[in-house]
Amino acid sequence: MQKIVIAIDGYSGCGKSSTAKAVALKLGYTYIDSGAMYRATTLYFLKEKVDLNNPDELQQALKKIQIAFKKNFQTGKQETYLNGMNVEDAIRSMEVSNFVSEVSKIKSVRTDLVHRQQQLGKAKGVVMDGRDIGTVVFPEAELKIFMTADLEIRAKRRQKELLEAGREVTLEEIIRNLSERDEIDSTRKESPLLRADDAVEVDTSHLNFEEQVDRIVDLANEKIGLY
Ligand code: DC
Repeated sequence: MQKIVIAIDGYSGCGKSSTAKAVALKLGYTYIDSGAMYRATTLYFLKEKVDLNNPDELQQALKKIQIAFKKNFQTGKQETYLNGMNVEDAIRSMEVSNFVSEVSKIKSVRTDLVHRQQQLGKAKGVVMDGRDIGTVVFPEAELKIFMTADLEIRAKRRQKELLEAGREVTLEEIIRNLSERDEIDSTRKESPLLRADDAVEVDTSHLNFEEQVDRIVDLANEKIGLY
C-alpha cells in the first residue's frame, strides 16, 4: 500500500507530539518531532553562547549541529541526540522552552532545519509534527491536521507531563510560556504558525487521548485508501 505524509501542526501544548507518536505507532510509520530539532538547536546555541545577531557565527554553528533520533530500547521511546549526546531531557527544560521561539524566528535556522526535515520525510510513511509542516515543510502532504485546544487545558496537561518527569512548575509560568510562544510563533515573519487551507482542524479540548489518536488514524486510513 502507498505510504503518505501526515503533517500535524498547531499551538504549543496541544498534545501534538504524543498524538503524532501514537498515530505513527498505529500506522507503522516513522514519527519525526520537528520541535525537538528547534529545541536541540536552541540548546546548542545556549551552551556555545552563539550570538544570534551574528549571521556568520550562526551559519558556522548550524554546520556543527548534528541531530538524530534514536529509540531507547528500555523504554521504547524515541529520544533526541545532539552531536551524539542524548539531550531528550535537556531540550525540555524551561530554559530551552523560554528561548526556543526566539531561535525559531531566525531565517537561516529555519532554512537549515526545514531542509533536514524534508530529507527525513522523503521516503514518506512519516508523521511529522510542528508549526509549519503542512504549510512549508510538506505543502504536498496527503493529510494535514491542525490541532487546537483551550489555553488553560493545554497548560494543565503540560503541568501534569512535567510533574510526571519530576519537574514542578506553576500553572501561571506554563500559561505565560505557552501564550508567549503562541504569540511569537503566530506573528513571526518567517513561516508563522498558520492553518493550511486544506488542513483538518482537530480541537482536543474535550477529547481524550485515545479519541484524538483514533480521529487522526481514521482520517489517515481514508487517505491511504485513496492512494
Ligand atoms: O513542538 P514544541 O513545543 O516542542 O516546539 C518548540 C518550539 O519550536 C516552538 O515554540 C516553535 C518552534 N517550532 C517551529 O517554529 N517550527 C516547527 N516546525 C516546530 C517547532
